[in-house]
Amino acid sequence: MRIAVAGLGNVGAAVVRLLQMNKNLLIARGADLTVCAVSARDKAIARSCDLSSVEWVDDPHALAARADIEVVVEVIGGAEGVALELVTAALNNGKHVVTANKAMIATHGIALALLAETSRLQLSFEAAVCGGVPTLKILREGLAANRISSVRGILNGTCNYVLTRMATEGLAFNAALAEAQRLGYAEADPAADIDGHDTANKLAILAALAFGVAPNVASIPTKGIRSVTQADIREAASRGGTIRLLGIGKRDQLGITQKVEPVFIPNGDPLFGINGVTNAIQISGDFAGDILVQGPGAGGDVTASAIVADLVDIARGHRGFAFGVLGANLQKSSN
Ligand SMILES: NC(=O)c1ccc[n+]([C@@H]2O[C@H](COP(=O)([O-])OP(=O)(O)OC[C@H]3O[C@@H](n4cnc5c(N)ncnc54)[C@H](OP(=O)(O)O)[C@@H]3O)[C@@H](O)[C@H]2O)c1
Repeated sequence: MRIAVAGLGNVGAAVVRLLQMNKNLLIARGADLTVCAVSARDKAIARSCDLSSVEWVDDPHALAARADIEVVVEVIGGAEGVALELVTAALNNGKHVVTANKAMIATHGIALALLAETSRLQLSFEAAVCGGVPTLKILREGLAANRISSVRGILNGTCNYVLTRMATEGLAFNAALAEAQRLGYAEADPAADIDGHDTANKLAILAALAFGVAPNVASIPTKGIRSVTQADIREAASRGGTIRLLGIGKRDQLGITQKVEPVFIPNGDPLFGINGVTNAIQISGDFAGDILVQGPGAGGDVTASAIVADLVDIARGHRGFAFGVLGANLQKSSN
């Protein structure tokens, strides 16, 4: 299967490297995957992968038009702009798409899913939620027989790191955030993480798969961790618990609700003790019961693992609706 990779940053370079390092293993598992072309902004930047036998294309849009490409991997990022243009053009031109772009999927996922379905193409985005932890696969496939009543989780490693360090080291919020930035866990502009928007994007995608509602991130009440103080953390500890930023989606008799907020987690809760940059999600199904998945939620290698798993599915001919149901059958989500 011939692949183009758009974006060669943390994730894109790791995807190319993984495909090169594990080529034979992937062939043995039914997926002969070859990167034919790549694109990024600056050809002069050294990448952590071998590009000697790969064609460099200056304009990523050109990847969508190439007759020799079957799948476009979009790892540029951003809800709009080049990423959205490229993915839309690729689907219009008969290419499958694999992306890690949670902002784009949470905002434009329905339109893109409908486009893919119309053309009988695959749109896959396992890497958009919790990096290498195969959470969407669990919801879409492993739990396909269940009515899901809740998904709740620690979906942002940066926030979890900051809250962990505030609790274990007694650091103030700003000091813990500065440490996360120094260690490369937080962006130079950490607003999307700290203010809860990254968690809301991931929750919108999880809720679509769990409850069959269209992602509607604008309708999710979202509160980040900026206002969490040392006093809050100490108070939580005195009650035997801790504070974590959660994305929470629930279905009950009143309907489906979604929210993002810092929550008191008592000792004994499955999400207690999830520390540092780890992500964890608890899913409750009517027949499967409570399931907890956890693991590294960010980083080039772990995200590449999820992207290549999506590629393997396409190569094996395992296809499915992007959100688990026909795009046209997703209910409107108003929260
Ligand atoms: N990093 C993670 O842990 C992680 C985890 C899950 C999901 N994701 C998602 O994965 C995607 C990529 O993240 P990343 O961390 O790899 O980002 P990144 O390191 O910033 O890489 C972005 C890449 O896109 C290229 N690019 C940016 N604008 C471009 C343009 N206009 N035309 C062509 N190329 C362009 C950049 O080119 P240059 O290198 O030449 O500047 C760079 O190679 C995002 O959607 C992100 O949300 C990331």
